[in-house]
Amino acid sequence: MSGFSARTDFPRTPNPLAEALARHRARGLPLLDLTESNPTRVGLPAPDAALLAPPGACGYAPEPLGLTSARHALAAHHARRGAAVSPEHLVLTASTSEAYGWLFKLLCEPGDNVLVPVPGYPLFEHLARLEGVEARPYRLPLAHGFGLDVGEVEAARDARTRAVLVVNPGNPTGQYLHEGELAALADACARHGLALISDEVFSDFAWDAEPDRVATVAGRALPSLTFTLSGLSKVAGLPGLKLAWTHVGGPASLRDEALARLEWVADTYLPVGTPVQLALPALLAHAPRFQAAVLERVRGNRQRLLAARPEGATWDVVPARGGWSAVLRIPREPGEEATCLALLDAGVLAQPGFFYDFGGGAFLVLSLLPEPEVFAAAVEVLARVLEEGPLSPPAG
Ligand SMILES: Cc1ncc(COP(=O)(O)O)c(C=O)c1O
Repeated sequence: MSGFSARTDFPRTPNPLAEALARHRARGLPLLDLTESNPTRVGLPAPDAALLAPPGACGYAPEPLGLTSARHALAAHHARRGAAVSPEHLVLTASTSEAYGWLFKLLCEPGDNVLVPVPGYPLFEHLARLEGVEARPYRLPLAHGFGLDVGEVEAARDARTRAVLVVNPGNPTGQYLHEGELAALADACARHGLALISDEVFSDFAWDAEPDRVATVAGRALPSLTFTLSGLSKVAGLPGLKLAWTHVGGPASLRDEALARLEWVADTYLPVGTPVQLALPALLAHAPRFQAAVLERVRGNRQRLLAARPEGATWDVVPARGGWSAVLRIPREPGEEATCLALLDAGVLAQPGFFYDFGGGAFLVLSLLPEPEVFAAAVEVLARVLEEGPLSPPAG
């Protein structure tokens, strides 16, 4: 279409599942939603909204990288998680999505590429494209339990690669980076002059203890320029407050140059809202309460899912160690879309693996956040539909 940029020409044709969901909703039919991942809608603890009107909330004393008080509060938050970071190396943005935009501007010329994990978070492709950058996939191999294989990263790299993204733990695959993988990855990044971008929005949500797990790369002496991203949307379950942070690390000269340039970018966009920055210490103090409730919820729901699986079933729950999702491996026939449509007929909404570019088999992705009664009722239907096969008549 003339007059608009090619990079905003996103496909807008709804897929058959979206169409079926719209029909289901239009008919007012009941729905047990196993895609609900909005932490504000599933009965989890929220902070007192009065926190968002601290004294000075309507003032404006802009500091491009974020208020000094907010960056100090964040450095203390990192210290509580065992990472020693300087407030001066932290950059505040309205979201991690905005941070990605800034990092792609910082690192890439139009036409350059960044390597993104697949299966993985589908927004990377769009975030890169909006900056004129290509998101080039590297595989998290099923044979490696969807963990990182540096050989796959090396194989995906070309002369125009500028950065490697890792999501730790993976979304939706829920595997953490391990010490050996991080060392190999940081070494490859340093050798090829690539930045390492570590998305740690789910890192506080480990389900169990695991040797050699990397909780964060912030504050580590890594040989490559390194950006570590997180934010209130997952850490405190507050996506609507719009506050995220990036830690900049790596060799001092690269780090300082990156910070100086990011300050310019930040100054151009003007800073994050004042009320949320002033409220940050109190919001971070609330985070442990939210995280404890999420962990109880996701552990409980995962148990409910495992308990719903009959012995000898044709489907399986893929092993994982953290995050807010579960991945199911299902039979290739009739496959992801037909299974999701059959589930919808039976009143349950689940995501097909192709939303996350799984490939190599058939998968479903479920949110582990729904309230226990909803989740238990949904997995009962799910187990029945998966056992009976999608061609059987809908239940009830
Ligand atoms: C891996 C990952 N990164 C980033 C985000 C987005 O976070 P934000 O709300 O800070 O943009 C999400 C949201 O689901 C995510 O799954």
